[in-house]
Amino acid sequence: MKRLIPGLAALALLLSCSGATSPSAQNENPAQIAKMEWFAQAKLGIFIHWGIYAVDGVSESWSFHNGYVPYEKYMAQAERFTASGYNPQAWADLIVRSGAKYTVITSKHHDGVALWDTKADDKSLAKMSPAARDVLTPFVNAVRERGIKLGLYYSLIDWSHPDYPNIYRNGPPRYDITEEPGRWQKFLDFNDIQLQELSQAYSPDLWWFDGDWEQSAESWKAKELTDRLRAWNPSVIINSRIQGYGDYGTPEIGVPVTKPRERWWELCYTINDSWGFQHKDVNFKSPQMVLRNLVDCISNGGNLLLDIGPREDGSIPEEEVRVLEELGRWISKHQEAVYETKAGIPGEHVAAYTSLGLGSDVLYIYLPYKPIGAVEVKGLVDNIKNIRVVGSDIAPSWKIYNKLSWTDVPGLLEITVPEEALDSAITVLAIETNGPVTLYRGAGQVVTMND
Ligand code: GLC
Repeated sequence: MKRLIPGLAALALLLSCSGATSPSAQNENPAQIAKMEWFAQAKLGIFIHWGIYAVDGVSESWSFHNGYVPYEKYMAQAERFTASGYNPQAWADLIVRSGAKYTVITSKHHDGVALWDTKADDKSLAKMSPAARDVLTPFVNAVRERGIKLGLYYSLIDWSHPDYPNIYRNGPPRYDITEEPGRWQKFLDFNDIQLQELSQAYSPDLWWFDGDWEQSAESWKAKELTDRLRAWNPSVIINSRIQGYGDYGTPEIGVPVTKPRERWWELCYTINDSWGFQHKDVNFKSPQMVLRNLVDCISNGGNLLLDIGPREDGSIPEEEVRVLEELGRWISKHQEAVYETKAGIPGEHVAAYTSLGLGSDVLYIYLPYKPIGAVEVKGLVDNIKNIRVVGSDIAPSWKIYNKLSWTDVPGLLEITVPEEALDSAITVLAIETNGPVTLYRGAGQVVTMND
């Protein structure tokens, strides 16, 4: 056969998907990689915002901070927080059914009201509310019994604390921490006592800090704090909201469009438009939309931390349960394409989300729509072993078009998925390859020779 020059040029543009992209020293550290493994494979976590704000359905802490609700009125919600129908076992069962591998619960939000019976001050549901008990411990126990990883959200900010420098966004500050370092230190000691209580009682797998933006790393003594937390539990994972001392990134609400810079990341977002329960907020996302966003995170190598907001009585709104149940249905059918994956291939190759199996020898294609005609994949080197529909016994048919024997530019792979093999939400195709999935990343070439 004829050829060769164009083929050689094309070869230079081939990209094997088994090669890692230049990670930083920290990302290369084997101990760090081992520590992050469960997190990297978890893909879905359930975030729970539960607190006195659920009583009137106002925004968690921000409603008084921003001046929408007077502080006293906000705090008075505690008198009507009952937890009367609270069933932590049912919460944990629902999390298991959703397919999530971890949960993060607000042990204390910026309003300073603790869900556990803290000894550090009197601001807890146990002391302030008719619930009159520690509501965190039974949830932690239920989570532990089911083998779900435990994350504790802890707000570094405590706008209720007399030694925290501010309370209102537009009001005068209580004091200036540079002028009263001793008072600020008193506040840091208070946070420390609480973090010690939580550590000792629950030994969380993950700390989810929030509110670091109000002070610098130096003021929070972020290095010392994270060193202490890691000394208490060397395998603990810490989110990024601790002024640069965390393990992973936490984009919020906005779904990343390009792959985040951090090797490990998690999108936290709301199931409607609120973190906590709000009676008027019925802008729930559909199960299919949440699934699509989950798959989007997976395709960019991240996790989705999906938030739910239980009512003050502990019941979880039906619409939220429905979303979690549907996540569970879809995930259990497509497990291999969820947990055993890493980020997919560049978007130009196929009009769909993608991920790679951990061994790089399977390419998953997620179709959040009903294809019209065949699904086309371009630039995929033909070392195809098999193509199947995940969770279905019905085989798709496939064919390669436009492949010239004398060039390395791959042909167009056309996959036809029988209607009966489509999933009701997102269909997943698995392209198994002999060796790593390899891509042609060039701009094509002129055909200088023909048969
Ligand atoms: C924000 C808010 C907070 C919410 C959190 C969850 O930073 O301060 O209300 O709990 O994000 O990601």
